[in-house]
Amino acid sequence: MERLQYNRDEHAAEVVAAHYGRQPAAYVRSFGCQQNVNDTERLVGVLLDLGYAMVDSPQQADLVLFNTCAVREHAEQRVYGNLGALKALKQKRNGVLIGLCGCMGVEKTTIDKLRESYPFVDIVLGTNAADQLPSMLVEKMTTRKKALRVPPIGDEQLTEGVPLVRQSSYRAFLPITFGCDNYCSYCIVPYVRGRERSRTSADILAEFKGLVDAGYKEITLLGQNVNSYGKGNDEKMDFSDLLALLCTEAPGDYKLRFMTSHPKDATRKMIDTICAYPQLCNHLHLPVQSGSNEILALMNRRYTAEDYLGLIRYAKEQCPEMTFSSDIMVGYPGETEADFEKTMELVREVGYTQLFTFIYSKRPGTAAAEQPDLTDHKAKADRIQRLLDLQEEMVAGICTPWTGRVFTGLVEDAGRTEGTMQARLDNNMLVEFAAQPGCEGSFVDLKITGVRGAMLDGVTV
Ligand code: SAH
Ligand code: SF4
Ligand code: F3S
Repeated sequence: MERLQYNRDEHAAEVVAAHYGRQPAAYVRSFGCQQNVNDTERLVGVLLDLGYAMVDSPQQADLVLFNTCAVREHAEQRVYGNLGALKALKQKRNGVLIGLCGCMGVEKTTIDKLRESYPFVDIVLGTNAADQLPSMLVEKMTTRKKALRVPPIGDEQLTEGVPLVRQSSYRAFLPITFGCDNYCSYCIVPYVRGRERSRTSADILAEFKGLVDAGYKEITLLGQNVNSYGKGNDEKMDFSDLLALLCTEAPGDYKLRFMTSHPKDATRKMIDTICAYPQLCNHLHLPVQSGSNEILALMNRRYTAEDYLGLIRYAKEQCPEMTFSSDIMVGYPGETEADFEKTMELVREVGYTQLFTFIYSKRPGTAAAEQPDLTDHKAKADRIQRLLDLQEEMVAGICTPWTGRVFTGLVEDAGRTEGTMQARLDNNMLVEFAAQPGCEGSFVDLKITGVRGAMLDGVTV
């Protein structure tokens, strides 16, 4: 694998300046997961480097970029819906450039659809490709040709030093791996994000120290599968070693989170590490997908429900305060009522504080897309509802005993009602409490006064 260093493209900056004859404006919108948001931060960094100013709406922009997600059909439909709305903009101002970046960009089906129904799109860029944006813009501006072709996913490369502009001054994402090699049978990510590759611990530590020094209070390590960290670099360091290194070498007043962990690579050593360092949050997002061993095997997840529950039990023994969250998919091809019941049983046993539930969505090109899907949509929607009902009961059971206890939280955003703010606890729960805006990014002590769905109520003490 080739490690590259980003260099400012002086030629591209000159071409952009000459093309507009004034300072141009750009609008970038993220449609995907945390990795996608972090890639957007890098697209913005590169655009500022090229001389663009950032604006808040496509109407004010000379360049509009959508950073897209392909994980479910619904995610793609959202992008197409928003793209359709840009047609009028392009008709009004022919000079505006429109680009589609990210996971959808790497699919041939997207290129075909753009040619057919969205011919006004000028540029298509792949995943993790902010460093290629300058040369794409030069090509477009000097040849006026459309760049509608499947871009390479660049899985042989890892570029360091790409400038980025963070969306928050107290919460930051820090990627440690790119790509995914797991090929879960339903999932498009390995095809659109390329082979798994790890940054060096030195590069990660340098960025991490920079964030701690700059006063960031919540730092989230990112990767499709963070706990297989180490692939593609020559260091003898696993994910737990990396966590320990960061906490030891960069002590400070911050919280460290990570996502996503894959159960097949989650180890007791990782649990022990979480318990050993106070900066590491008492929370584990460990997507199980299903409680049925037959379905897990069909999904190519490479663990059983028993393996999964064994690790959760160990974590509960070592750290009784730890909370758990998960992704669950219902309606995978061939999932029976009995399979689904096993998922319900597993959810009862673990006791998650948060569940992200999805109905299986067929992704062309994946292994599961070849399997007949005979369960009707109504049955799947019914399973999701039963799961959500159970989850509501479970979370009330877990959180109600916390009433009266005091927890420390990081103030993040305004609450849902006027005069309230939300803080995230170490265990990843959100607490709403009476406060005025302006305290974002500070730690507060909160006494829990009640539970409302997935949200806690509290008062400052
Ligand atoms: N790398 C992470 C997250 C991947 S995408 C992991 O392995 O957990 C986030 C979630 O989307 C997945 O956990 C899965 O539950 C869901 N998902 C992925 N592909 C899907 C599909 N084809 N249909 C429905 N849900 C899907
Ligand atoms: Fe997709 Fe599986 Fe990789 Fe997660 S681990 S991104 S679900 S292939
Ligand atoms: Fe979506 Fe790509 Fe993330 S498919 S979930 S934006 S990795």
